[in-house]
Amino acid sequence: VSTDNIEAFQLETISQEYPSFGNTDLRSPAIELEFEDGSTITDLRYDGYKIYETKFPLEGLPSTYVENDKDVETLEIYLKDNLKDIKVILMYSVFENFNAITKAVKIINKSNEDVYILRALSANVDFKQDDFDFIQLSGAWARERYIIRSNLRAGIQSVESRRGASSHAHNPFMALVRKDTTEQNGDVYGFSLVYSGNFLASVEVDMYNKARAQIGINPFDFKWLLKKGEKFQTPEAVLVYSSNGLTGMSQIYHNLYSKRLCKGRYRDRVRPILINNWEATYFDFDEVKIKEIAKEASKLGIELFVLDDGWFGKRNDDTTSLGDWFVNKEKIKGGLGKLSKEINEMGLMFGLWFEPEMVSPNSELYKKHPDWCIHVPGRTRSTGRNQLILDLSRKEVCDYIIKSVSNILESASISYVKWDMNRNMTEVGSAALPPERQRETAHRYMLGLYKILEEITTKFPNILFESCSGGGGRFDPGMLYYMPQTWTSDDTDAIERLKIQFGTSLVYPSISMCCHVSAVPNHQVGRITPLKTRGIVAMAGNFGYELDITKLSQEKKSIVKEQIKLYKEIRKTIQFGDAFRLLSPFESNEVAWMIISKDKYEIVVSYIKQYAQPNTWDKPLKLTALEADAKYKIIGEGSIFGGDELMNIGLVIPK
Ligand code: DGJ
Repeated sequence: VSTDNIEAFQLETISQEYPSFGNTDLRSPAIELEFEDGSTITDLRYDGYKIYETKFPLEGLPSTYVENDKDVETLEIYLKDNLKDIKVILMYSVFENFNAITKAVKIINKSNEDVYILRALSANVDFKQDDFDFIQLSGAWARERYIIRSNLRAGIQSVESRRGASSHAHNPFMALVRKDTTEQNGDVYGFSLVYSGNFLASVEVDMYNKARAQIGINPFDFKWLLKKGEKFQTPEAVLVYSSNGLTGMSQIYHNLYSKRLCKGRYRDRVRPILINNWEATYFDFDEVKIKEIAKEASKLGIELFVLDDGWFGKRNDDTTSLGDWFVNKEKIKGGLGKLSKEINEMGLMFGLWFEPEMVSPNSELYKKHPDWCIHVPGRTRSTGRNQLILDLSRKEVCDYIIKSVSNILESASISYVKWDMNRNMTEVGSAALPPERQRETAHRYMLGLYKILEEITTKFPNILFESCSGGGGRFDPGMLYYMPQTWTSDDTDAIERLKIQFGTSLVYPSISMCCHVSAVPNHQVGRITPLKTRGIVAMAGNFGYELDITKLSQEKKSIVKEQIKLYKEIRKTIQFGDAFRLLSPFESNEVAWMIISKDKYEIVVSYIKQYAQPNTWDKPLKLTALEADAKYKIIGEGSIFGGDELMNIGLVIPK
């Protein structure tokens, strides 16, 4: 018998802020708990609120932060299940100047029994209509984050990861947009999750044609034991609304993520132009070869040399040595200290690749600690790229990683780290957790990873960290919190990159997107594109090279030198300006974008035709967001145009 007239209406017909399971709202719940009596019903009632004029960090998890912001307020709404004495805190922070709201949830078990959390999402938004399109960023290795837009329909539509990483397959993001929403106009509701592990982003259209949007940790294979007195903190969701189309949403995420999620010394600094030896040498290098590449790079104006995979243990291919973080003296005879110094003397900073979360079965580490990997006793330990994943739910494993990475970082003059992660989780279980906690492994792994990253990035504040996961398999806001740039994709083909970078830019700023000019024929797709095209495409983000420049002709070297000079002139605008997407590679043969510097004086426009066509003619490209009355001069050419002219007639692109 209801005490509050609840039978007079169905909760299902009205909007819920944080729906729980078991009542008259039969749509997907945001929270589901299991009690000792086997029941899974919670009845959360309002129990007060509090407002703070600041924002607090989330315990153990990355999140957006405040920095002398007077305009960020946090609202905490308290909910309570009276029968079981479970407290739920809904935490909302409003970033007034950035135009975004963050949302996270804390669950506190005040009852006299242990409970299981079966589902605890970070955000739930109930819309009164379903006339939206669903936008997702999906793909695979080497073709990450393609933009897919589809009609919402009755039932559940979702993207998720069950792979133990946010993944190449789907990004922890979705947007709901009106049918007529374009790049520049129309309503957009963006949902992004500050998390790097298994996530769920879903929309349920119910029988009354209302849409329920949810985002959070994936409930699939998740079960968390919350003992009496314990708390559970969900990751943070970042909710954005824009009436200025997809560009409006992207700019909000770009500004917030580059200024209030990324942190550290490099947050506000232009990023160095780097050269990475991976596609130049793969595992086949020695100290002499490395120095030859670095020497040529320094002559051309490159600022940072990155030594990729293969410098440690006995690693001459990918079958061995992950976990053995000591230098391979056969390849680098003088050691890293000497090599890094010599590279510094050439005028370059020195950077190093690691893959610290992994162990090769063929390694010293695995021999010593065969139970340190994620596994289930008696079951196959499936390898991916010949490697297993270390069990970061264990403190001693995290400590080992912190110590072995720190030892190397202290042993040489290292200014940059590329932190890679090259496989997904299988046979998930931890030798250190009791049976009732096995399904906590994947989330505990993330908590362990975040702890490692917090410690290492704090201990080495001057190092620039770049995250990577077989290219862009963990390009997510969780990683960006610790590492302000990400290797966008293992596909370095300029034409393929157009889609990848265009899609990535929906949420992530150019400065976070690392883009390299590589050799032709391209190693992933075999395509030959002009060096000029490769340069223009890579300049859409954080610029670098990844090829053996010692093998380039003098003519090509001077083109590279010019590219580097140009990028140095315009990188402040590219890395810190406001980006506008003009022509989409998903919709046309032509691809264009522009970035306006924050002071509005400089505009960088980029235009690429994907496939050459015969018999074409000069064509205008309409720019946007300029000052109509201002005059704009084309650098290097001298012609002057009015802002109104460029916006209404367009910039003429020579055929
Ligand atoms: C995957 C990365 O994405 C590549 O750039 C390279 O670092 C390799 N791993 C090295 O094994």
